[in-house]
Amino acid sequence: MPLRSDPPPKGAHVRRHHRTTPRIRRSPRLHRLLGTLLLVAAAGVFTAGSAPAAAAAPVPLDQVIPAPAQVTPGGAPYRITAGTAIRVDPDPEARRVAEYLAGILRPSTGYRLPVTAQGSSGIRLRLADGGYGAEGYRLDSEAGRVTLTAATPAGLFHGVQTLRQLLPAAVEKDTVQPGPWTVAGGTITDHPRYGYRGAMLDVARHFLTVDQVKRYIDQLALYKINTLHLHLSDDQGWRIAVDSWPRLATYGGSTQVGGGPGGFYTKDDYREIVRHAASRFLQVVPEIDMPGHTNAALASYAELNCDGVAPPLYTGTSVGFSSLCVPKDVTYDFVDDVLREIAALTPGPYLHIGGDEAHSTSHADYVAFMNRVQPLVAKYGKTVIGWHQLTGATPVPGALAQYWGLDSTKAAEKEQVAQAARNGTGLILSPADRIYLDMKYDKNTRLGLSWAGYVEVKRSYDWDPGTYLPGAPASAVRGVEAPMWTETLQKSADLEFMAFPRLPGAAELGWSPATTHDWDTYKARLAAQAPRWDALGIAYYRSPQVPWPTAG
Ligand code: ACM
Repeated sequence: MPLRSDPPPKGAHVRRHHRTTPRIRRSPRLHRLLGTLLLVAAAGVFTAGSAPAAAAAPVPLDQVIPAPAQVTPGGAPYRITAGTAIRVDPDPEARRVAEYLAGILRPSTGYRLPVTAQGSSGIRLRLADGGYGAEGYRLDSEAGRVTLTAATPAGLFHGVQTLRQLLPAAVEKDTVQPGPWTVAGGTITDHPRYGYRGAMLDVARHFLTVDQVKRYIDQLALYKINTLHLHLSDDQGWRIAVDSWPRLATYGGSTQVGGGPGGFYTKDDYREIVRHAASRFLQVVPEIDMPGHTNAALASYAELNCDGVAPPLYTGTSVGFSSLCVPKDVTYDFVDDVLREIAALTPGPYLHIGGDEAHSTSHADYVAFMNRVQPLVAKYGKTVIGWHQLTGATPVPGALAQYWGLDSTKAAEKEQVAQAARNGTGLILSPADRIYLDMKYDKNTRLGLSWAGYVEVKRSYDWDPGTYLPGAPASAVRGVEAPMWTETLQKSADLEFMAFPRLPGAAELGWSPATTHDWDTYKARLAAQAPRWDALGIAYYRSPQVPWPTAG
């Protein structure tokens, strides 16, 4: 790794290397697709990206990621032409979804594609009650029109992502392509398995600019992820302006892993991220990690330290050496101010308070700290999320615990989380040896870490959130989140190499019914995404487990 390896501070813990033995759970086979259909499906998509599009069959309706709940192919295809209009109900948010779709289609088709409330042919976006739920939609493709129907603009937006994937991959390009722009005939009826489908970016270990975050948001939207968790503070940097404690950002944000200049978001920067995420129907979950992972804050304000002495800034990669001073009242003035200011910037319901790897906080102090801090989240009208160590304290009613253990995590630790789940704590599943996107794929991966093991594409996909944690009721699982820690990652190309092709699998685990889960059919659908990533400028990892189309 090209990382500067600073000697760990006193008391630092280095995360242990757990080499995990892949233990693959066989999931129910997908019965509704026959092998022959798959072969046709694969052949259609493999030619869609790079061969002259005139020769290509339309993308089969079941080639979408995440797999839709129900697919009924059949009937005449629909074709977008120079005369096509996008018809949308007179609802401002629905209209914004229609404009977003037009913004994707216009550069590559070269067509005008006016957005209008008039008429019934072409591409139609309709709002209607019909059992679609908060995020579901129906897509009907037939001669003369393709119709998306949903109860909400969010449902229409997810339907638009499906429509994107049903068009040739060249639709993603930003210059005029030859077409034709054909959508296979049939109907898709779709809705998510889980309401929380997240991805996390660690902007603390290496700072990421607003534009880098927005680019990632756009990639998340393509796979119907609806939550961006921002890890805004850690030992190496504090990344959000707090007016009442200004040195957190100006000093605490002034470096990063390896000693670079770091950075922070002004409140306007953060609002811009929230606004962009909302335009893609993602909520933002801000995390202030406490009481550990706080060296940047402790370095910024001496009074936050029990001994009143500010430590130096830290640019290494060890964990577990820092703690807020639990007995001091000023600690809770600080936490109250930070949570109040961040809550005021955050329209979503959640504040994430971290709580992981507090190895320098005694258990009694950890419990006392969480007992005082969780009510502050409620005071500002928000719901607590904590890493699963929160279950070792007393999660408040309504809190969610984010599980980041491994297959090899001790049974007692898993049981502590499962027991909290049985008592009402909701779970977000982020098992590190499955969907930590910063884990190396194999020993040769040039980026990433391996303390949770190597995580190839099949391993990251092949588990079931509903049955993953022994003893936890399936009803406790609120969703799935794929974290991206950035000790070794600095630029969009780094993020994309680690996220693709694993991120779409995490998205599918969060969205698709368990009955669609099947590695063999999934890997063909995943391979078929490659021309789309090429068109979007995403340099993905060509895993040997996936039957990628040959270049042509
Ligand atoms: C974590 O990876 N420490 C949540």
